[in-house]
Amino acid sequence: QNYTERYRPQFHFTPAKNWMNDPNGLIYHEETYHLFYQHNPGGISWGAMSWGHATSSDLVHWVHQPVALLARGFPDNITEMFFSGTAVFDAQNTSGFGTNDKAPLVAMYTSHYPVGQTLPSGKTVDSNQQSQSIAYSLDDGMTWTTYDSVNPVIHNPPEEYADQIHDFRDPAVFWHEETQKWVSVMSLPGLRKLLIYTSPNLKDWELASEFGPVNAVGGVWECPSMFPLPLDGGEGLKWVVQISLNPGGPAGNTGSGTQYVVGQFDGTTFTPDADSLTQSNWVDWGPDFYAALTFSGLPVEDRVDIAWMTNLRYGGSTPTDPWRSAFTVPRRLSLKTINGKATLTQEPILENAEYSSTHWDTLPTGSTKLDFSGNALDISLTFSESESTQFGMIVRASSDLSEQTQVGYDVEKKEVFVNRTISGVSGFDDTFAAVSTAPLESKEGKVTLRVLVDWSSVEVFGGAGEVTLASLIFPSEESSGIYLFSTGGSTDNVEVKAANVKSVWI
Ligand code: FRU
Repeated sequence: QNYTERYRPQFHFTPAKNWMNDPNGLIYHEETYHLFYQHNPGGISWGAMSWGHATSSDLVHWVHQPVALLARGFPDNITEMFFSGTAVFDAQNTSGFGTNDKAPLVAMYTSHYPVGQTLPSGKTVDSNQQSQSIAYSLDDGMTWTTYDSVNPVIHNPPEEYADQIHDFRDPAVFWHEETQKWVSVMSLPGLRKLLIYTSPNLKDWELASEFGPVNAVGGVWECPSMFPLPLDGGEGLKWVVQISLNPGGPAGNTGSGTQYVVGQFDGTTFTPDADSLTQSNWVDWGPDFYAALTFSGLPVEDRVDIAWMTNLRYGGSTPTDPWRSAFTVPRRLSLKTINGKATLTQEPILENAEYSSTHWDTLPTGSTKLDFSGNALDISLTFSESESTQFGMIVRASSDLSEQTQVGYDVEKKEVFVNRTISGVSGFDDTFAAVSTAPLESKEGKVTLRVLVDWSSVEVFGGAGEVTLASLIFPSEESSGIYLFSTGGSTDNVEVKAANVKSVWI
């Protein structure tokens, strides 16, 4: 496999070829990370939705595996597509799919039926109906059997939402220890509503409660998930609901985005914290972060999130070939009290490289070229708020700076920004060439930005990771220069720590 095609991410996950959208069924099991994903095995555009599969021992290096759930009737006569969903380890064999010496993995996903039909289970579905189904694996996730004798296990939405049968999807399932039940959260996208179901066995599901609409509702709600996290690393747990929204994402971005709500969950009902009910609780403030999902099967303090790194506005027209779409780097999540509020913070997971550090007591006004360059880099930048009004870094810069991407901090506005207006190819979408921003307070007068540069993306982690911005860029290969810029005055105590990130595909 050639992983050096134009724009091919060197340390972000991509399928070898063809279309990918949402991460699905993320699970750590028997010392292996499984990554499933929405995949069209037959082309580079959305269609024939199946679950692609890859495995890893470290979340950094991935091995492509055969398609795990292939659209039924692929390629010519598709009767069922496997839309987004999740996977769990049924350790107690509550489902009965296991054998005496093997507990099953169970996946719960949305069955999308392009044609009306009577299913093997005898249930009848409408054309384009969406229902929830399950499949199980007895070989640790490598091959899957759909539960055809009963599927779908949630046939229709509740009676009062009967008119939503074409828009009812994306179950996120987990085991709730206190109530000894399975919980599954799914979405009625058009109503901006989540439905929470519970089950003793992953087969029989009962509606427990509803949540929403709250916060950003400028588009449909998709791919919800819910998980606990310790607050400030202590004993107390809070629950986080993560919801994708399309359109209606972060301001300055007319497309899709992902928001979160912090609260409590008692096994039945999610109760949001009052201060988490706000319009702009974005998981990521950049344009390219959608359908994020965390891994099941890891300890409670070890929550790792992965998102589809694109925007629904142009996800189908990005200029890559023979694959389309990448995932964000896996991000370890924490919940920290920041300005009195439980806030999600994120730290990227990538292979430790050898860092070199440079320090400037004072960096003058203007731009300063650095003595390293590259197209796959991990750079941390720290500085003290001083004379300058804006300070930051230019990455993927051409030698005449006519092509560049700026990552900086606006001292007056207290904002991180990513400016991709002249970052490279952008003609595939007329809103792509834009600036995105995220609010960030300095800490004791210091600002830290960690910037992950890859062949077609920039991911920024601000402060302690309380804001992040994922942005695609499509620069030419030769644009590999790195500069610092200081606008409106000089900048003090500048520290740059940088490393080349090696290809994870070699
Ligand atoms: C989100 C989404 C999901 C759906 C899947 C289909 O990108 O629309 O709601 O399950 O993609 O591919």
